[in-house]
Amino acid sequence: MLPAINPTTTRSWAELQVLAKESSFTIQNLFEHDPNRVNKFSFDFESTYFDFSKNSVSDDILNALFNLAHECELPQAIDALFSGEKINQTENRAVLHTELRKLSESTQYSKLVANELEKMKKASDRLNSGQWKGYSGKQITDIVNIGIGGSDLGPKMVTNALRPYWGSIKPHFISNVDAQQLVEELDELNPETTLFIIASKTFTTQETMTNAESAKAWFLSEGGSETDIAKHFVAVSTNKDAVNAFGIDSENMFEFWDWVGGRYSLWSSIGLITACTIGYPNFEQLLLGAEEMDIHFRNSAFEKNIPVIAALIGIWYNNFLRYESLAILPYDHRLRHLPSYLQQADMESNGKSVDRLGKNVTYQTGPIIWGEPGTNGQHAFYQLIHQGTKIIPCEFLMVANPAHPYQDHHDKLLSNFLAQPEALLKGKSKEEVESELKESNGLNLNIVPFKIFEGNRPSTSILVDNLTPFNLGSLIAFYEHKIFTQGIVWNIFSFDQWGVELGKQLAKPILSDIQKKEMGTHDASTAGLMKRSQDMRK
Ligand code: F6P
Repeated sequence: MLPAINPTTTRSWAELQVLAKESSFTIQNLFEHDPNRVNKFSFDFESTYFDFSKNSVSDDILNALFNLAHECELPQAIDALFSGEKINQTENRAVLHTELRKLSESTQYSKLVANELEKMKKASDRLNSGQWKGYSGKQITDIVNIGIGGSDLGPKMVTNALRPYWGSIKPHFISNVDAQQLVEELDELNPETTLFIIASKTFTTQETMTNAESAKAWFLSEGGSETDIAKHFVAVSTNKDAVNAFGIDSENMFEFWDWVGGRYSLWSSIGLITACTIGYPNFEQLLLGAEEMDIHFRNSAFEKNIPVIAALIGIWYNNFLRYESLAILPYDHRLRHLPSYLQQADMESNGKSVDRLGKNVTYQTGPIIWGEPGTNGQHAFYQLIHQGTKIIPCEFLMVANPAHPYQDHHDKLLSNFLAQPEALLKGKSKEEVESELKESNGLNLNIVPFKIFEGNRPSTSILVDNLTPFNLGSLIAFYEHKIFTQGIVWNIFSFDQWGVELGKQLAKPILSDIQKKEMGTHDASTAGLMKRSQDMRK
């Protein structure tokens, strides 16, 4: 059982409230008063460097936050997580994605996990060596992952992040029930050389099953036969019966288990497309990188624990400074899907308003996660980050060594990655603006206020030497543990997702009304939209 401590009743919470009220420092002041700040607030993890020094936290604040984590019994919660207690209480399930990457230790789950990994390895080897042939004898060249949410975002983010590791197989992802995506992907594919992975934990998700049926129909109409399906369709699921009912033999099913949450499943056979695209040894490196972060999270004192520090800084912003969102800004094209992956990981986990005793919380929980790769975002929404009325804590990510030969591009990218957090920190004063205008002989006093940057806007910078599978594994596990830590302090259940149910439930009778051309009973606005859409479709 997880502890169920209302964080607002702790001594540290009260102390943090006072600190929030009374603190009048700027981040720049903190640097001026402590020449050792960068060393104190930055951490090396293998070949990744985490710099938290440009955040609005002093030593006092951080100490109070560490006390808060202790008062909320985070150490006990970490033990409960790793020991397989059923901490997903509302679904009566353990939360054991860490078992999927516990390669260096033998546990009761090791055999199960090893069996599936062995199957994934075989599939990946057969595909990459050209032994997996389609119905006409040609080798498979393209794999399509049909899945949504955790059965799409994780594998899509990781597979694209590791593009330099791709072999001969090209990956594709279909998630949306909007068939436009299906049509656009199928247009590029040849049924003779395509393998479909139907990835769904439940194997009942509307979007995935609709896309899977349409892909099967396409395959059959383009030359494949029922008996050829075995060569062109595999399933990844926890639901054997539904897989068989779809027409996929258990032989072609890759399993995982109810103790793996959908948004934490990229390490399981849901990562099949990743393993097949980057090759199994690289997939194993991804797992090893995550395991290393698990060990760090489990064993490090909070003062040195990177996911815990990141989580607590987020709590300071969210609950005491009332900053409502967090921007994820990867300065790397390969990490372009990281913001949307983290949206699900974080917002589906911690977007809750009922605590672990079933009571409404009286404080803020999960932040709004958003972002775009740098430098694109700079030319879109950074205006608001620099000069808007809202303070947006930013997480900047950068890979020191690119996988391409264009050093000039990379120098420019790196200069922007360094400049943006510096600009947010320092800002530009009235005096600086005036003197700049004077120098350019264009002193127009009317324009001065518009060119001032307040500065003192917080950010974290994460710098990794190379985007290897190992480093990526560590980075993702870092985020998972950060999310877990915040959920514990907020006293919520981070591993269920009841909030996605109502929309799904309401869509069912509406779908039936649409198909029967009936109106059903709805609020006036929905009824109006229904009528309009039916009229327009005529
Ligand atoms: O709708 C939310 C959700 O249940 C996610 O949590 C999950 O990742 C996604 O749907 C897909 O579910 P499945 O893998 O069962 O198709």
